[in-house]
Amino acid sequence: MAAPIGVFDSGYGGLTILKELKKQLPEYDYLYLGDNARSPYGTRSFETVYEYTLQAVKWFFENDCRLVILACNTASAKALRNIQQLDLPKIAPNNRVLGVIRPSSEVLGNYSTSGHVGIMATSGTVQSDSYIIEMSKFFPDIKVYQQACPMWVPLIENGEYDHAGADYFVKAYLDQLFSQSKDIDSILLACTHYPLLEPKIKAYLPEGVKLVSQGNIVADSLAKYLQNHPEIDQNCSKKGQIEFFTTDNPLTFEKQASLFFGQKIEAKHTDLV
Ligand code: DGL
Repeated sequence: MAAPIGVFDSGYGGLTILKELKKQLPEYDYLYLGDNARSPYGTRSFETVYEYTLQAVKWFFENDCRLVILACNTASAKALRNIQQLDLPKIAPNNRVLGVIRPSSEVLGNYSTSGHVGIMATSGTVQSDSYIIEMSKFFPDIKVYQQACPMWVPLIENGEYDHAGADYFVKAYLDQLFSQSKDIDSILLACTHYPLLEPKIKAYLPEGVKLVSQGNIVADSLAKYLQNHPEIDQNCSKKGQIEFFTTDNPLTFEKQASLFFGQKIEAKHTDLV
């Protein structure tokens, strides 16, 4: 039986990815789950993020999804490899779980002419070194500089992203990144929450530096993946419908979600165990 594509994030951030998926692949059905009750993931341990993400993946499988996108860099960094290598073969060998780090790393180097790129991400993603590892496979000659931005997700989740208070931390983390190298000419927003800060980040970026968001990169990559894997594509239902679930209060989720998704949505509650 064909079923929606699962899209997972710790909270709202994955909606910036889903927005692009809907734009580029509107015919598919999607099932979104935000683990808002336990977000943020960015400061949690490897073990905890793995445990929570695996629970989410199982929830998607119980809801018939056969393809799940971890639309969260932190979950992709800390849980994806274990899930793909250890869990999937045991619980659902024909299902697929994909992340956002590999597709982003596959193209990020193409944006740079100086050969120096910056990654702005949660502390968890930075500590995992996942981007350094993936980038070295696709662009071994490119130097990757990472900057953890632990205050950005809380600023965004508390609705402060377009207020004056956010300027301080936007500038501070950009300064810290550029203190590592003045030659950085492209920056990846490697956390799915960060597109909300884009206007402020752009205001403080040195001239000529490109800001790269992941939504369209992940959508391009998924489109190619589905073309190359008809056996997976045929499991994906195509009625153009999207359902939203949160582990926290659905009314709060609905209010916040439109900021990330660009339109009003209806959400339901679910528990993860
Ligand atoms: N949106 C998540 C990411 O892409 C991070 C948010 C969080 O810390 O939970 O990494």
